[in-house]
Amino acid sequence: MEPRGPRRFGAGPPTARAPEPVLEVRDLVKHFPLTRGVLVRKQVGAVQAVDGVSFDLHRGETLGIVGESGCGKSTVARLLVGLERPTSGHIRYRGEDISTLSGRALKAVRRNIQMVFQDPYTSLNPRMTVGDIIGEPYEIHPEVAPKGARRRKVQELLEVVGLDPEYVNRYPHQFSGGQRQRIGIARGLALRPEIIVADEPVSALDVSVQSQVVNLLEQLQDEFDLSYVFIAHDLSVVRHISDRIAVMYLGRLAELGTDVQIYEHPTHPYTQALLSAVPVPDPDARTHRDRILLAGDVPSPASPPSGCRFRTRCWKAQELCAEVVPPLEVPAEFRGTPGPARHASACHFAEERAVVPSE
Ligand SMILES: Nc1ncnc2c1ncn2[C@@H]1O[C@H](COP(=O)(O)OP(=O)(O)OP(=O)(O)O)[C@@H](O)[C@H]1O
Ligand code: SF4
Ligand SMILES: [Mg+2]
Repeated sequence: MEPRGPRRFGAGPPTARAPEPVLEVRDLVKHFPLTRGVLVRKQVGAVQAVDGVSFDLHRGETLGIVGESGCGKSTVARLLVGLERPTSGHIRYRGEDISTLSGRALKAVRRNIQMVFQDPYTSLNPRMTVGDIIGEPYEIHPEVAPKGARRRKVQELLEVVGLDPEYVNRYPHQFSGGQRQRIGIARGLALRPEIIVADEPVSALDVSVQSQVVNLLEQLQDEFDLSYVFIAHDLSVVRHISDRIAVMYLGRLAELGTDVQIYEHPTHPYTQALLSAVPVPDPDARTHRDRILLAGDVPSPASPPSGCRFRTRCWKAQELCAEVVPPLEVPAEFRGTPGPARHASACHFAEERAVVPSE
């Protein structure tokens, strides 16, 4: 997939007003306790699924999150929409800390942050009609659509996602994968949220259908002024849709920047390794590519390495890497430079390395 048109963020003149964050995530931590024993359960450790993640989501932007399986992407998504409670840290929506809210206040905020799930085959209840599935959020928020107006609202939503409004009485099994994901998106839109967290929304779909669903998400973003957190392991899909990209490794962010910064000027060894594994269609470009093969497996999040979590697989690791956690910030050597290497990278020895030829 090609990257989409001109970027809306990160490319403006230096005098441009800073984009307004709709979501501020700070030091977010989620540890799942590991217990032993049948009668008396004793905690023997914790899976550190998310361990100190911070980022802003700006109004109208798409922030992509990429990383290998098990690095904590879905846990971040579930924390953002309130399906999990953080162990510590903050999620602020328009300045209000939603990690401390409860009851009615929490419900009101949640309305504005909705999720689209990965698998349209399992996330839709097979016994419910499409109308009931899309209209389900109105049961919790009847103020958005009173009972008498629901059918019409649902039919409008079907139209918005490119489906025939007459499908309202059909069941999920009567639809293809792509159509089911459109139904999932319609449900995500039902409460007119400001933010949609999409966790691998196209990963379960055929490649030919993926771009249609991605295009729909882009069109809806413009139409409804949505901000997206878009999670995927496919780097080209993420580049296509994202304004900025966060690269995640073992519960932490390794690098964060605009698509050009991350894809063409990565400074973190993990990003460089990930990108070097991306297939490049042009044979000429392929021969000029620097290929990095990562050694070893991802360590267990129950006992992650000290210091930099990537150090057990990093070819540049030194003593300092085992002792000091590298912060996610612009590395000192790039702070005074105007170039695209000037972006946040959690590496003590960050440096540019061309791994994928620029387009
Ligand atoms: N409810 C839970 N209880 C215990 N451990 C969990 C729970 N949910 C997730 N984990 C663990 O947390 C880690 C992060 O999982 P998560 O699903 O967030 O990763 P992911 O990046 O979404 O992976 P994938 O790409 O496979 O979807 C994994 O080690 C996982 O086994
Ligand atoms: S901090 Fe050290 S181990 Fe971590 S990515 Fe940088 S060089 Fe590698
Ligand atoms: Mg996941």
